[in-house]
Amino acid sequence: MPTVCLKGIDNHLVTVPTGLFIDNEFVPATRNATLDTENPATGSLLASVSAAQKEDIDLAVQSAKRAYRTWRAESPGTRRNLLNKLADLVERDATDLASLEALDAGILYRDSIGLHIHQALENLRYFAGWADKVDGLSLTIPEGMAYTRREPIVGSVYKISFLSHLLTVLELRIYWLTHPDIYSMITVWKLAPALAGGNTLIIKTPEASPLYGQKLAQLIAEAGFPPGVVSIVCGLGTVAGKAISEHPDIRKVSFTGSAGAGRQVLAASARTNLKRVTLELGGKGPAIVFDDADWENALLWTTLGITVNNGQVCIAGSRIYVQSTIYQRFAEAFSARSRDAVHGDPLLPETTKGPLINKMQREKVLSFVQKGQASGAKLLHGGGGEENFVANTAFLDVRQDADIMQQEIFGPVACIAPFETEEEVIEKANDSAYGLSAAVFTNDLNKAFRVTEAMETGQVTVNVWGALNANTPFGGMKESGFGRDMGKEALDEWTVVKCVKWQIVRK
Ligand SMILES: *[C@@H]1O[C@H](CO)[C@@H](O)[C@H](O)[C@H]1NC(C)=O
Ligand SMILES: *[C@@H]1O[C@H](CO)[C@@H](O)[C@H](O)[C@H]1NC(C)=O
Repeated sequence: MPTVCLKGIDNHLVTVPTGLFIDNEFVPATRNATLDTENPATGSLLASVSAAQKEDIDLAVQSAKRAYRTWRAESPGTRRNLLNKLADLVERDATDLASLEALDAGILYRDSIGLHIHQALENLRYFAGWADKVDGLSLTIPEGMAYTRREPIVGSVYKISFLSHLLTVLELRIYWLTHPDIYSMITVWKLAPALAGGNTLIIKTPEASPLYGQKLAQLIAEAGFPPGVVSIVCGLGTVAGKAISEHPDIRKVSFTGSAGAGRQVLAASARTNLKRVTLELGGKGPAIVFDDADWENALLWTTLGITVNNGQVCIAGSRIYVQSTIYQRFAEAFSARSRDAVHGDPLLPETTKGPLINKMQREKVLSFVQKGQASGAKLLHGGGGEENFVANTAFLDVRQDADIMQQEIFGPVACIAPFETEEEVIEKANDSAYGLSAAVFTNDLNKAFRVTEAMETGQVTVNVWGALNANTPFGGMKESGFGRDMGKEALDEWTVVKCVKWQIVRK
């Protein structure tokens, strides 16, 4: 199977196979279908990778079903050891993985190596630790005894019992948009608990940035996972993603991506086999700055919250509400911080801002900038850019009902608005279809408690933004979706409860 060789950090060469990873082999797609992936910083072609067709998804499903028969009976200790081994290999090849993320997704090398791969390692090792602790409860009932078991997600489609298995797909912003989000982390958020729970899985990588997954596939084979336990395929959402969502033998889909694509996944489940669905569908995160907040800390995190990865993260703090007493001063300081970004090659150490994932996303972001201006909001800075680069942008005095305040832009566009009282800002923060994450900046304990309690979001942070940890559950409320990644909750998502009851026959 062909490979591609690319120049990564410090001109170090990284070689990855370009085929679909099925049954621990790299194979071409049906009809040799491929798709091209570009370097978003330069527009140059990086690689043509195999693009999974419906037939290829069928092959991956058959392989996962074969693997499931032995994998589900594998000792928990073996699963733990394999996950730990994979973590060691990811750590060994971290520079290659981070180079690929920089080249293919435009993510800063230093963010990738320092944060994302670190997060991936934390998750692999955290869930390796859970693999041999997937236990149930013992319960008392009058008839005799009962206990629960936590089993891999099984389902005998068409009543054929050996079809018990689980497959999943990870899609990132697939059907209409192809965003990179922070792919290295999110892949592992799904993969680690799924494997710890005894499932087999198929990962569909984003068509705009498949190369990280190609490398991960190599490491999965090297770690010694049996063939079929993990398949990694790239493909279009409208082809491979659709085939997965509709597949009668797939028992669960865990999806991270746009709200529109998420609805299609859920509808496909309802139309076909009622596969379990976990959805993580982005957000419009409020960052609330009270006038008693630590000034430096609030500035640091609110700026990062909308500029990290160009705002192409689902938890972006894109709505910034600032108490009117400090509003003007804050806007000036925020603007000064955000304007000095150094655009360039994400592999270079001096670069502080990489490109957006592609031209389509750039155009979408710029169309929101126009909508912002049309809505009467005041452009504080930015608004333009060259090629795939879009300058950090901020609007002041944004109306609560403006499109830029209500819709997810997935770009480096901050919407800033003033508030007077705690009640008012709670109302504004909750006034969103989304409910993924929120950040509150204050030094008043009681206020922090009240506001965190009132937020309709799956995560709320106090005096920090982002803050993702392997042991803390992450996911949305409202139209941000349902289900959780990370934490013990993720393990629960990847297992089902069976209750076993015994009646004692008395003489
Ligand atoms: C796919 O590519 C291989 C190798 O280049 C070639 O032998 C084969 O004929 C191609 N198949 C199709 C259907 O194009
Ligand atoms: C969030 O704010 C809205 C509007 O003020 C309110 O109706 C809702 O009850 C709040 N949510 C919670 C959980 O307090």
